[in-house]
Amino acid sequence: MADARESLHGMWSSRLAFVLAATGSAVGLGNIWRFPYVASENGGGAFVLVYLACIFMLGLPILMAEVMMGRRGRRSPINTLRELARESKASAKWQIIGWSGVTAGLLILSFYSVIAGWTLSYTWTYLRELVIPAVEFGSPDAVFGALTSSFGMLVFWHSLFMLMTLVVVSAGVEKGLERAVRFLMPTLFVLLLLLVGYGISTGYFGQAVTFLFKADFSRITPAVVVAAMGQAFFTLSLGMGSIMAYGAYLPSDASVGRTGAMVAVSDTFVAVVAGLAIFPIAFAHGLDPEGGGPGFIFTTLPHAFAAMNFGTLYAIAFFSLLSVAAWTSSISLMEPIVAYMVESWNVTRRTAAWMVGGLAWFIGLGSALSFNHWQDITLFGRTFFDHTNFISSDLLLPAGGMMIAVFAGWIMPRADSREEMSALADWQYQLWLGLVRYVAPVLVFVVLLSVSGAFDFLTAHV
Ligand code: PHE
Repeated sequence: MADARESLHGMWSSRLAFVLAATGSAVGLGNIWRFPYVASENGGGAFVLVYLACIFMLGLPILMAEVMMGRRGRRSPINTLRELARESKASAKWQIIGWSGVTAGLLILSFYSVIAGWTLSYTWTYLRELVIPAVEFGSPDAVFGALTSSFGMLVFWHSLFMLMTLVVVSAGVEKGLERAVRFLMPTLFVLLLLLVGYGISTGYFGQAVTFLFKADFSRITPAVVVAAMGQAFFTLSLGMGSIMAYGAYLPSDASVGRTGAMVAVSDTFVAVVAGLAIFPIAFAHGLDPEGGGPGFIFTTLPHAFAAMNFGTLYAIAFFSLLSVAAWTSSISLMEPIVAYMVESWNVTRRTAAWMVGGLAWFIGLGSALSFNHWQDITLFGRTFFDHTNFISSDLLLPAGGMMIAVFAGWIMPRADSREEMSALADWQYQLWLGLVRYVAPVLVFVVLLSVSGAFDFLTAHV
């Protein structure tokens, strides 16, 4: 039996392994698919500015809090919270953080798998183009339309991706995952840089930079702030326990601050580079840079691949690596729930993974339908996919992150958090404490309030 400082689910072989796994969790569709399209829908610069501010003022401190709590509890998020609450002589109700994370995780996994299915399908389409010379990639819009209008195809690829995810989670954290991340992530990054190179060659690079980084402050509305904050949590895998679960497998001697900073910085880097790759292409091909939508990268990038030498090869490399990046993220979406079931329900990893995968798969059908049969079934102008995406990423993740910040900052005795973060200098620890105690809870609360419309009511009456 593992001692108190080891998790029953196994441990990362080293600090580097944790950084790779956490980076694998963070870097995924959120950076390359979601960031460009949400930035596009929210007008670019203003959104990006708020997003970057959220990453460093909320994201990094909460990421550190999750790693720190996970490592101290050494269990799945729900049981870690129970353990830490007991240690801190606080109410066991704090487990709600774990439960809200489970809900968010299931919802995110459900649509994540559908979109990751698109990347699998694109890999396949380009492979066919390579192997069967007569097959040609049609116009990007037509290819995208043909895929998304077919519920059967979407379900096929969604099922395949969900299967890939649950197979890895069944096998446990050490095997496979570490290897995949160590090698494939850097390759994906190089491909992105090549696409930036193509973007520069179009002559529209400057326009893209202006769009992404020139903040027009008048465009910062509550809706933009909500979207930017949600994106920050989503892209760093925060607020639902993924990072906490991974922290539970982190050796005790690793520095929470250093590892956390490495994850946050590399994740942000990938998102910015993805933006710099995609927007020049949108400008160069006369696509509306604010038209965004979930199909954004799928209708812009093929233009670049069509124009490049060996474009088909690049396309295959790009979409297959993006599928892998999505894979290492979806694994981390499933892990906290599966770990909890193994600990508390006395089931095997395998059974748990199939149950969670099955449920998320079923919910995902609603997202698959949102692009065809249910396209016009909307509530407040949003489809089932939009609602799942919004509720989980923009509401549940920030709410979970806020509770994590409150717990780490106010409930856990300072001596405990200081002990876990002993590698930090005093001023760094004080800065972290200030951010999780005051800044994160207040900011998230105000922003969430503004979503509920309560804010409009208040401002209208003062
Ligand atoms: N961070 C992942 C991405 O950017 C998504 C994710 C969110 C993973 C929440 C785990 C938890 O693609």
